[in-house]
Amino acid sequence: MQTTILLIGAGGQLGTELTQGLRKIYGSDHVIASDIRDAQGALKEGRYEKMDVMQRDKLFEFIKKNQVTQIYHLAALLSATGEKDPRWAWKLNMESLLFVLEAAHELKLHKVYWPSSIAAFGPTTPKQNTPQYTIMDPTTVYGITKLAGELWCEYYFRRYGVDVRSLRYPGIIGWKTPPGGGTTDYAVDIYFKAIKEKKYECFLSADTYLPMMYMDDAVKATLDLMEAPAEKVKIRSSYNVGAMSFCPAQVASTIKRHIPDFQISYKPDFRQAIADSWPKSIDDTPARQDWGWKHQFGLEEMTADMLKNLSA
Ligand code: SER
Repeated sequence: MQTTILLIGAGGQLGTELTQGLRKIYGSDHVIASDIRDAQGALKEGRYEKMDVMQRDKLFEFIKKNQVTQIYHLAALLSATGEKDPRWAWKLNMESLLFVLEAAHELKLHKVYWPSSIAAFGPTTPKQNTPQYTIMDPTTVYGITKLAGELWCEYYFRRYGVDVRSLRYPGIIGWKTPPGGGTTDYAVDIYFKAIKEKKYECFLSADTYLPMMYMDDAVKATLDLMEAPAEKVKIRSSYNVGAMSFCPAQVASTIKRHIPDFQISYKPDFRQAIADSWPKSIDDTPARQDWGWKHQFGLEEMTADMLKNLSA
């Protein structure tokens, strides 16, 4: 049977680029992007379906009609937006995952991808080189849905043999699509503002270290995991993946080397407490050992690439 991939939440920061990556591998005819909004930008260049993942029956019908074999389920409220409406964040993030897992089991999908996050960790998690297996006590509703979701994924794998795979993403930085409501968004905003206004007011303090990853690496990690033979995917909750760790002051001084009159100021808001509860750096040994994860971009390379693309 041929592969047909459905991306849910394809209009978001990661979805847009994963859609493009998957279309390159499988061809546009085999990749269907979907989102609750109308198609934007590059998503218009292939198959697209405006769809609300919360409508279970329609989702199931669509999967059957289009003979979907894989789902990448990326729709979610992120950490900062989730705090504005915790009950809705719980409902959207959790129910949509369960619909997708049920579909995978009942309609016999070949594979499912679902992202977890460093937000699944919490204040008593060891902060430096956070291990794969450790204390997990998330404080945001987003983090709670990620931790619960990881356990549901593992449950569906063990109980029903659903081939579900997941990564605990750090903050993801890219230039094509802005992120939507996360705590790590400053690391994207800062580049946009550096180009446009040569100044940026940061909502986290200067020395707030967080694990981060350039978009190219995030797409690569996802596709590497999804293309790996099933027996190599030993962890079915979610894999730690790391690339770099930095704080706002370090991004600012790296940008200054390209834009000497760039100015940064700091005005921490409610997102500071969220960032303070998360790891500062990640130990991703199992991902490197099990399926060969390797990152390419550090802060210097990423900054050069971001500024080049945004200036163009
Ligand atoms: N980047 C996300 C956020 O800040 C973490 O998964 O919410």
